[in-house]
Amino acid sequence: MSTMACDDRTDLDEQTSKDAPQSPGHPAWLKSAVFYEIYPQSFRDSNADGIGDLPGIIEKLDYIENLGCNALWINPCFDSPFKDAGYDVRDYRRVAPRYGTNEDLIELFRQAHGRGIHVLLDLVPGHTSEEHEWFVQSKRAERSAFSDRYIWTDSAFHGYSMPFIGGESERDATYILNFFKCQPALNYGFAKRDQPWQSAPDSQAAQGTQAAMIDIMRFWLARGCDGFRVDMANSLVKNDGDDKPETIRVWQHMLGTVKREYPQSAFVSEWGVPKQALAAGFDMDFYLDWRWDGTGNGYNLLARNVDDALDERHDHSYFSAVGGGSIRAFLDDYLPQYEASKDYGDFCFITCNHDSPRLAPRLTARERAIAYGMFLTMPGVPFLYYGDEIGMRYRSLPTVEGGYARTGSRTPMQWDDGDNLGFSEAPATVLYLPVDDADDAPTVADQLDDEHSTLTWVRRLLALRAEREALRASSSFAVTTAPDDGRVFAYRRCSPQGEELLVAMNPGIRAERVFASSDPAHDAENRASNEQKHIQAAATHDPLISLGSYSWDQDGLIMGPQSFAIFALR
Ligand code: GLC
Ligand code: CA
Repeated sequence: MSTMACDDRTDLDEQTSKDAPQSPGHPAWLKSAVFYEIYPQSFRDSNADGIGDLPGIIEKLDYIENLGCNALWINPCFDSPFKDAGYDVRDYRRVAPRYGTNEDLIELFRQAHGRGIHVLLDLVPGHTSEEHEWFVQSKRAERSAFSDRYIWTDSAFHGYSMPFIGGESERDATYILNFFKCQPALNYGFAKRDQPWQSAPDSQAAQGTQAAMIDIMRFWLARGCDGFRVDMANSLVKNDGDDKPETIRVWQHMLGTVKREYPQSAFVSEWGVPKQALAAGFDMDFYLDWRWDGTGNGYNLLARNVDDALDERHDHSYFSAVGGGSIRAFLDDYLPQYEASKDYGDFCFITCNHDSPRLAPRLTARERAIAYGMFLTMPGVPFLYYGDEIGMRYRSLPTVEGGYARTGSRTPMQWDDGDNLGFSEAPATVLYLPVDDADDAPTVADQLDDEHSTLTWVRRLLALRAEREALRASSSFAVTTAPDDGRVFAYRRCSPQGEELLVAMNPGIRAERVFASSDPAHDAENRASNEQKHIQAAATHDPLISLGSYSWDQDGLIMGPQSFAIFALR
């Protein structure tokens, strides 16, 4: 692996990507954005009915601002039968009554903007609820403008190689599902067609679906929303193969149209292949957590490299002090994707999301602090999942609203020692999900003034990120130390103005050297003498932030057990 020069990333600020002529520039505000993901049903209940709501989010905007986040992603808050917690949308243009009204959402945009906070809603373009009016129309025997809005076969007795449902409609056909049974797939056409009932991606029917989705985006953007997190963005066109050319084309059209009208709007995809997602016109793509049959992707290797989210004994995550190994396995997955996408937009780290297990309690507070040190200082725009900043715990809970194993990451936010830990004044029995009942359940109130708390650490990291150009999303990134046989990981981040920082961490239990010109076990390419001198100069500086111990000698930096530090080099 070769190390990169620290100044090889073009500044993406409001610039059109060179090889992607269709993609308009990225909004300037993203460059310094730090997102906070809010699961609305679990954040703050303002009217004591047991479920979080929009006025509850408004109540907590000051908290979010003080934390250091300047952008929100709110999980679906639209009218829904909630068989998949709102990812089964019944009416895209109406806030679910349990969360409030459209006026409440517009008020949230207004109050957030007053604090410099941008707000992304969650767009579910690939399917609706089976109760959506389009689908109700589409199921009818007689033809209508909605007959081809979904994917129907040509007989109630014919299936296809995708999950489908028969016997539910007046119409003599089966329909294709996108996810759960309650989520029929919208029709964006098929790239490869082998059945007469399959539309082409440029058919009138498929274009009608695109136009309808564009109108939904316009509806909320016109009311003050700043963009969308887009659900299952990579699977709109069916039979599209691994490279997704037709799905990319669909997004280029939809995002191109919307961004021409709202150039400051931002879009982040649930895609997980940044090269494709950014070519499709998204500003950012998530580094998703993937694990199949005991094998994880790069992100999974960092902090979720275990089959059972609560099993710390078998955890081989990089950040596990005893169970972890070298950072190389992560870099093998990450670097090619970063390299292939860095000139076109952002590849984003999450601390967790509503679909993945939280890191606590499996990882200790110290292990998580080092993980956050990395997640919040890598390239891209970071996403902090509500409650991770206080170490809220994944819990083993029965499923609610189609959550299944995900339910344990969706419990109510823990504010203080009031009723239901400050989440709601409703009786505990009517809460959306139970609050953590442990005696030592972490709360915001307990951690705010504790200088050793996770909350204080996250606030300090975010304050540093806000101060330093080198930590901005698109500032360049270069690995400086990543031994095969050790636990340390160090990288440089450099701003276009020449500010240069060294981020170093050691999640392991033994002290380790970061730069060792005399030690052949370490990366040869990192021993270039001028680099060595350059880094050496930092020895005279105190770190900008640190956890645990570190020391410098004539060969370089030694990071103590379970340590993290950032040094200014220039
Ligand atoms: C996405 C969402 C998930 C939802 C699914 C179906 O993966 O993040 O929560 O269940 O799509 O919409
Ligand atoms: Ca409520």
